[in-house]
Amino acid sequence: MTEKPTDDRRIRVVAVAVQKGGTGKTSLAASLSVAAAEDGERVIAFDLDPQGSLAGWGALRRKDGVTVERIQAWEIGQMPEILEGCRENGTTLVVIDTAGTATGLAPALRTADLVVVPVRPSRLDLVAARPTLQTLVGLGMRSRLALVLNQCPPPPSPRTDAYAAQLRSLGVLAEPSIVHRVDHQDAVASGLGVTEYAPCGRAAEEIRALWGWLDAKMSRPEVEAS
Ligand SMILES: Nc1ncnc2c1ncn2[C@@H]1O[C@H](COP(=O)(O)OP(=O)(O)O)[C@@H](O)[C@H]1O
Ligand SMILES: [Mg+2]
Repeated sequence: MTEKPTDDRRIRVVAVAVQKGGTGKTSLAASLSVAAAEDGERVIAFDLDPQGSLAGWGALRRKDGVTVERIQAWEIGQMPEILEGCRENGTTLVVIDTAGTATGLAPALRTADLVVVPVRPSRLDLVAARPTLQTLVGLGMRSRLALVLNQCPPPPSPRTDAYAAQLRSLGVLAEPSIVHRVDHQDAVASGLGVTEYAPCGRAAEEIRALWGWLDAKMSRPEVEAS
């Protein structure tokens, strides 16, 4: 694991959010946290979901690189102060996992450099993503959202292509799309990211590439579109 030099730069925050359960928020939060740590980031992952799935993953972990902490509903308003504490401790990246509801999330979402919105290639998921996108646009965060197609059929898939085109009409679509692979399920069950569980597998390759895309996107923030 190569550690990037810490400096005084602002801590970066990636939130994973969509008002629908089962789309892969927690799985992506876990594996992206690990991939970022392997890329030299000092990572804290915050679990804002009362279900505590990410915290449960953290409790299973026997590897270092990612610290996982729960944030209770009444603490969400203090996110800016919590992040300042993280920055002072040398954290370079915070990953925030959220519940499948937007209620009370605004103070956390506002702190994000990027909000990852996972969507499965199905009409119900596409429709369910819209209120989240509207919430983010309402918060003035249109340029800070990135849709991710997750749990896609194996490529080449006309279905993935068709949904990718629809998502691009709603906002920026991150690359690559993430294919449905059991590595994601087995990694989470072992307290690992996919890049730790099967480092040479295709799931690991996709997650590394997705982290690279998100990292690059955060380094070239666009002017906020109205
Ligand atoms: N890319 C993927 N491939 C295979 N299974 C996945 C993938 N992403 C998520 N899953 C599975 O889908 C289910 C829901 O994922 P989860 O991360 O808990 O979603 P959420 O946090 O949005 O509710 C879990 O069983 C998880 O293992
Ligand atoms: Mg979850």
